[in-house]
Amino acid sequence: MADELHRRLAEIVGPKGLVVDGDTSRYLIDWRDRIHGDARAIVLPRSTEQVAAIVSLAASENVPIVPQGGNTSMSYGSVPHSGDSGIVVNLSRMNAIRELDREGSVVVAEAGTVLTSLHDAAEGIGRQFPLHLGAEGTAQIGGLISSNAGGTGALRYGPMRDLVFGLEVVMPDGKVLSDLSALRKDNRGYNLNHFFIGAEGTLGIVTAAALKLHPALHADADAFVSVERPEMALELLARLQDRFDTAVQAFELLSGSQIEIVGNMLPDIRCPLETVPDWAVVIHLGDPDPEARLRDRLESLLEEELTAGRVLDGVVARSSTQAGEFWKLRHSVTEANLKAGMGVTLDISVRVSAVPAFLATASEALRREFPDALPVVVSHLGDGNVHFIAMFLFDRDGPERHPMETADAVQVLINDVAIEHGGSFSAEHGIGRKLVGELKRLSPPERYDMMLRIKSLFDPKGIMNPEVLFPVDRR
Ligand code: FAD
Ligand code: LAC
Ligand code: ZN
Repeated sequence: MADELHRRLAEIVGPKGLVVDGDTSRYLIDWRDRIHGDARAIVLPRSTEQVAAIVSLAASENVPIVPQGGNTSMSYGSVPHSGDSGIVVNLSRMNAIRELDREGSVVVAEAGTVLTSLHDAAEGIGRQFPLHLGAEGTAQIGGLISSNAGGTGALRYGPMRDLVFGLEVVMPDGKVLSDLSALRKDNRGYNLNHFFIGAEGTLGIVTAAALKLHPALHADADAFVSVERPEMALELLARLQDRFDTAVQAFELLSGSQIEIVGNMLPDIRCPLETVPDWAVVIHLGDPDPEARLRDRLESLLEEELTAGRVLDGVVARSSTQAGEFWKLRHSVTEANLKAGMGVTLDISVRVSAVPAFLATASEALRREFPDALPVVVSHLGDGNVHFIAMFLFDRDGPERHPMETADAVQVLINDVAIEHGGSFSAEHGIGRKLVGELKRLSPPERYDMMLRIKSLFDPKGIMNPEVLFPVDRR
C-alpha cells in the first residue's frame, strides 16, 4: 500500500516532490525536539493543482494529511504524532509572490513564502507587511495564517486575521476555493476566509493569500526601559499612545528573570541597562513621515517619566544597530529558554488593563504549587498577550514529577487563572496537539459543539490534521 501510495504521489508531484530517503527529521520532528512523528509519505507540491490532486487521492484512500509550513509551531500542530500516520504536505516549494500592487496595498503570495521574503517584497514597492516574530526567517505565510500568528506588531496592526484580504484553499475533498480579488468591501454572505484563518490545517490547505500592506516607516525610535512593576509599564504604554497614537508599533514586557536567562545562555547578548532590572519594556515607534522626530520626542517623554519616578532607567537607541540589539534580546527568549531548562510556556491573553492582576495571581499560584519553578514573563503587553513561563532550570533540581505530568499540571493551574481573569488560554500559538484537552475542558459546551459541527461540515472524513484541536475519536 505504501509503495502504491508513493507511486501515485510521485505521479502528481514528480520524483523531486517526494521525500523518500535522507534526513526526514525537519518534517517529522518539531523544532523543540519534543514530538517525533511518523508519516507514510512526505510531499512537497509546487502548485495548487498538485495540492488538489494530493488531497483528492488522500480523500479517496482515507489517508490523513498534515499540512506543514516552516514547522515552527509552538503547539505541535505541524508534525504527525501518534495514530494513523498520513501524508505530510509541506508547502515550502510553493513560494512565489504572484502579485504586488502598491496602489491597492495588496500582495498575493503563495503559502510557502517565508515571512522575511514577504517583508522584502513589500519593501521593494515602498510598503511594509507588519507581522513580526522571532521565527520570521522560517515561518511561512500558510502556517502564519493557519495559526493566526500575532507577534510584536499585533498591538498596532492586529494578528494575521487582520492582514488577510482573501485566500485560496484546497478543501478536504480536493476542490479549490479561491478568493484572491482583495476587495475592501464584500458582503456576499458568510466570509469563508475566516474559517481557515487559525484553523491550524484542520479544514483545508491554504495555498495562497491576498494580504494587506501598510505604508512603510521612514522614522523610527527604539528604547529599552526599566520599570518597578507591570502596572508602571501599562501606564507608560497609555502615555505613549496618548502622545504618539499609531506610531506605537511594539511594546514588549520582559521580566528580569527572562533577561537573566538570555544573558546566561547567550553571552553575546547583553542587557542594555547597567543592572538587570525586575521588569523592562522594549519599545518601537515608527512613522511614515521622515520628519516625525520620533527619537527626540521619545527621549523627552522618557525624561519626564524618569523625573516623575514612573520609569527607573532607560536607553534610547542611537543607531539602528543598537535598536537591533534590543530586539535581538527580545527575540532570543525562546532559544535561550530552550537551553536553560524545561520551560512550560503558557500563551495567555487578558484585557490589557488586567495583565498586572493576572501576573500577580499566576506568580503567586506558581510559587505555591511549584516552588521549584522560576516564573518568567515575556509579554506582548500592548495587546494583552502574556507568555507566562514556568521555568524548571537544568542547573537546579529538576521537576519533582515526570516532566510531561508537570507541564500538564502547570498548564491547568495557570490556564485556570487566565479564565478567572476573563482571558483566553490560547492567544496566538493555537491549540495544535498540545492543548486539545484544555480546549475541551475550558470551552463552553455550546462553543465546543459548534466547532465540532464546523469540522464535520468541512471535513466529514476527518482526514485534515487529525489530533489537532480535537481528540481523534470525537464521538
Ligand atoms: P507550521 O509550524 O508548519 O504550521 C503551523 C500550523 O499551521 C500547523 O497546524 C500546520 O498543520 C498548519 N499549516 C501550516 N501550513 C499550512 C497551510 N498551508 N495550510 C493549512 N494549514 C497549514 N507565533 C506567534 O504568533 N507570535 C510570536 O511572537 C511567535 N514567536 C515565535 C518565536 C520563535 C523563536 C518560534 C520558533 C516560533 C514563534 N511563534 C510565534 C510560533 C510560530 O512561528 C507561528 O505559529 C507560525 O505561524 C508558524 O508558521 P510555520 O510556517 O512554521 O507553520
Ligand atoms: C514570543 C513567542 C514565544 O513571543 O510567541 O517570543
Ligand atoms: Zn509571542
